[in-house]
Amino acid sequence: MAELRNVGIIGTGHYVPQKVVTNFDLMKMVDTSDEWIRTRTGIRERRIADENTATSDLAAQAAERAIQDAGIDADDIDMIIVSTVTPDMNFPSTACIVQEKIGAQRAFAFDIEAACSGFIYGLTIAQQFISTGYCDTALLVCADTLSKITNWEDRNTCVLFGDGAGAVVLGAVSEGYGLLSTVMGADGRGGQSLNMPGGGSRMPLSKEVLDKKLNTIHMNGQDIFKFAVKVMAGASIEVLEKCNLKPEDVDFLIPHQANIRIIDSAVKRLSLSYDKVYVNLDKYGNMSSASIPVALDEALKEGKIHKGDVVLFVGFGAGLTWGSAVVRWAK
Ligand code: UT7
Repeated sequence: MAELRNVGIIGTGHYVPQKVVTNFDLMKMVDTSDEWIRTRTGIRERRIADENTATSDLAAQAAERAIQDAGIDADDIDMIIVSTVTPDMNFPSTACIVQEKIGAQRAFAFDIEAACSGFIYGLTIAQQFISTGYCDTALLVCADTLSKITNWEDRNTCVLFGDGAGAVVLGAVSEGYGLLSTVMGADGRGGQSLNMPGGGSRMPLSKEVLDKKLNTIHMNGQDIFKFAVKVMAGASIEVLEKCNLKPEDVDFLIPHQANIRIIDSAVKRLSLSYDKVYVNLDKYGNMSSASIPVALDEALKEGKIHKGDVVLFVGFGAGLTWGSAVVRWAK
């Protein structure tokens, strides 16, 4: 068998809608307070797409920025993966819609659905294709318009989420750089803790589904919280062990941005100092799988990550799913 190639991130980009919705705005919609939201979650505001904007619109903007950052043309892309739980429509895939929008005509394209863990799943999938030489350049876009499936009368969920898109371009990199190891996990037994029960083949859209708002996010927050605290530290340690590294070798951590208390617990378990951790959930809320790549792009643009740095990504989400990845930064 031919030798496997090292695979790394060679370009990043993100895009969030203009419209800002603050905690004070939400106080006019549900029985909540800025204080509750800030102290329980760390979120101050989030971005919300307008009614004419779909997931692929955000995805295409983020993708174009990542392609430009990588210094390539859309024509150079061999494969497009879109991670989303809010596709434009059931089919065709949002990846095909993005392909058309950005003019990446040579690429094959498909969606993945691993909820908030989608960035790690997508990285791992792209790695397999590029390392074996099946293709050279992959575009991974994580994009969601969770506002479209939010019940704006449910204070348990509507304060948590935001819309946005993060994209990365992956390609072959020099030995010793790029993805060092990844971990992915799933436990379908916890599927009921976070789901959108209506609108699929189990419960197609009907007047009853719409009246009961079953086509919106349903969540048992405490179940997800306990699961998240466990897997964030567990998956981080596992992925580091896989490439013979220890938490003290981590130069930068980019965790899924769901709740500051969940991030705090992982940071504490890993004994990391906070200047090595990127947090932007205060301004965006939880953007599902877009959270990590948006944070990555911002961290890079702020000069927080340098060539050779060991960067750890870790996330969790509906499914239940989780994932972690360690990268030695190649750019
Ligand atoms: O990507 C994965 C997505 N999901 C998550 O990451 C969610 C993980 N879970 C969490 O982040 C937390 O569980 C929440 C932020 C969702 C909730 O925080 P909590 O500390 O677990 O609160 P709780 O659910 O135990 O609720 C405490 C109280 C309840 O009132 P009572 O029953 O004690 O009177 C809730 O009804 O807070 C109430 N509450 C609120 N109060 C004001 C729930 N939501 C709100 C709200 N404003 N928005």
